[in-house]
Amino acid sequence: MARSPVKNLKWNPGTAGNEALPYPDDLVGQVDSYLAELEFGEKEPVMPLTEAMRYSLLAGGKRIRPILLLATGRAYGTPPAAIMPAAAALEMIHTYSLIHDDLPAFDDDALRRGQPSCHVKFGENVAILAGDALFAEAYRLICERLEAAPPVRLSVIEEISVATGVKGVVGGQLIDIMGSACDGDTLEMLHSLKTGRLITACVRCGGLLAGVTAPELTQLSGFAADLGLLFQIKDDILDVVGETAVLGKQAGADLRHKRCTYASLYGLDESMRLAQEYRSRALEALEGLQGDTGDLAGITNYIYERQR
Ligand code: IPE
Ligand code: IPE
Ligand code: MG
Ligand code: MG
Ligand code: MG
Repeated sequence: MARSPVKNLKWNPGTAGNEALPYPDDLVGQVDSYLAELEFGEKEPVMPLTEAMRYSLLAGGKRIRPILLLATGRAYGTPPAAIMPAAAALEMIHTYSLIHDDLPAFDDDALRRGQPSCHVKFGENVAILAGDALFAEAYRLICERLEAAPPVRLSVIEEISVATGVKGVVGGQLIDIMGSACDGDTLEMLHSLKTGRLITACVRCGGLLAGVTAPELTQLSGFAADLGLLFQIKDDILDVVGETAVLGKQAGADLRHKRCTYASLYGLDESMRLAQEYRSRALEALEGLQGDTGDLAGITNYIYERQR
């Protein structure tokens, strides 16, 4: 199938889950509604900024990160609505990272979530600010709307700060663009930082907000680390075998930039075998947990099976 040009693209995000798997689809709508209702101060003179923030945030991502947080909380009896501000904050931060990732200085991608990337639509300067603002507004949301005991709220803020900083997304992005040695250890570290750490933060924040014990949190972290690697291995595979119209972003971007990925280092067959291995490891890690982990198993299977 031919790659779809941006302007003719018909992107149908559909539901996030594979119908055959117990993916917690009920949470997708809750997250989307909550995000749509957020107020950023939609008045002149900041209108172009808030418009750009909403444009990227409400474009229909899979919402895997907020759903992971909510599903982890629910596994221990915490209702999703009670922790939604933290879930929304993580989606805002993820969206910021996508806006910046697409900029010409990084991956120079013109398509995201089935529509022109933020900088294509609003210009680079506004896109940079939209990313910055989503990042800052995420913390404001947690401070103003997340009802949790102050020490718990502080732990959540610390967790997200670590996951997004030098030991997380930003550090990982730097290693990615520097294109240093492409070997197995470097690649695993790169993926754990740029993607895995934020996914781990989602699971850990869900656990923290549900008040799980320290050993339980450690076990949850192990599950999330495997899930994060599975997620990025699949992202690398889809960059090679995926269709732009289904992905909602341009396939082949890693090849274009000669990026070090699982597909480029190990080839497709071995990458798929590794994805299978990380899925098994993640599912095994769930077995030792006290909570009701059905949703988390469904999410794991979805991430393994996903085509976008
Ligand atoms: C894409 O994340 C960026 C990576 C970390 C690989 P997603 O595949 O979760 O993107 P959306 O949120 O569904 O658009
Ligand atoms: C980006 O990784 C990870 C982020 C921190 C945003 P990619 O560059 O592989 O993400 P895609 O493939 O553009 O979504
Ligand atoms: Mg990138
Ligand atoms: Mg990219
Ligand atoms: Mg990618």
